[in-house]
Amino acid sequence: GVANDLLTTLVLATDAPIALAPAMNQAMWRDAATQANLELLQGRGMRLFGPASGSQACGDVGLGRMLEPNDLALLAADCFQRQALDGLHILITAGPTQENIDPVRYITNHSSGKMGFALAEAAAEAGAKVTLVSGPVHLPTPDRVSRIDVVSARDMLAACETAMPCDVLIAAAAVADYRPEVVAQHKLKKDPSSGEGMLLQMVRNPDILATIAGRDDRPFSVGFAAETENLLEYASRKLRDKNLDLIVANDVANPSIGFNSEENAITVIDRELQQISFAQTSKGKIARQLITLIAERLNKN
Ligand code: C5P
Repeated sequence: GVANDLLTTLVLATDAPIALAPAMNQAMWRDAATQANLELLQGRGMRLFGPASGSQACGDVGLGRMLEPNDLALLAADCFQRQALDGLHILITAGPTQENIDPVRYITNHSSGKMGFALAEAAAEAGAKVTLVSGPVHLPTPDRVSRIDVVSARDMLAACETAMPCDVLIAAAAVADYRPEVVAQHKLKKDPSSGEGMLLQMVRNPDILATIAGRDDRPFSVGFAAETENLLEYASRKLRDKNLDLIVANDVANPSIGFNSEENAITVIDRELQQISFAQTSKGKIARQLITLIAERLNKN
């Protein structure tokens, strides 16, 4: 209440939540004056981050050390969480898969992983425990998300099965539907006897989403339908065929919201074929809107 410097002036003037991170000598911390002041401030709704115990700058050992900056940052972030997904385990697939042809070549697609990573970040912000199974991408792991890197569709399925059980699966990965039947042990050479062409025999990959959504312990299952035509028709067909709770349809023919873009616009379809549309905005915002919708549906169930 003195307000004779910038910090205490701000504390008096703000409507924001206030947290205290004590940093002092152990005897000062123990002192009755400090403890009485603390009780008063906590009674006014101020939160307490720490202090930690351990060796102190003056050579003493005991309670009074400031928490590590990273712990303070995480505790501060917690003040803003809506916690709509508290206590839930959310499994998210993201990025492309790579299917090897030989030791130097592979088949892949244009997925950047941005949507899946934005969803992982939003789910962690909403209080969920998040496992992110990602194909090869160039993205940093969001805070408090445990990430498993994989290469092929079969690796991705194995990683998802290991991460089960989960409450929600969001399959945002662009999984290769087919892989070369045989992966050549050595680099394939140009074969003059086969003329100008080359034939590569492909076989179907497992459908990760349909496999997990078909289990007895199936989670609330959310798929993506990235289409270039007949968007809503193909999306509703996938919802039914893969036994999903929600499908997120997006039109990848539109370059401003397609693969590798910064923005997205989506229409979500549920089992009653009700459509919920989210207008074009950043993938981060779309992710938060989608996580809010999933949390509402989980609460309804
Ligand atoms: O059938 P389609 O590939 O269009 O379905 C897209 C949805 O299915 C996405 O959610 C994608 O992550 C998932 N999928 C999958 N495993 C596959 C193919 C697609 O999990 N092999």
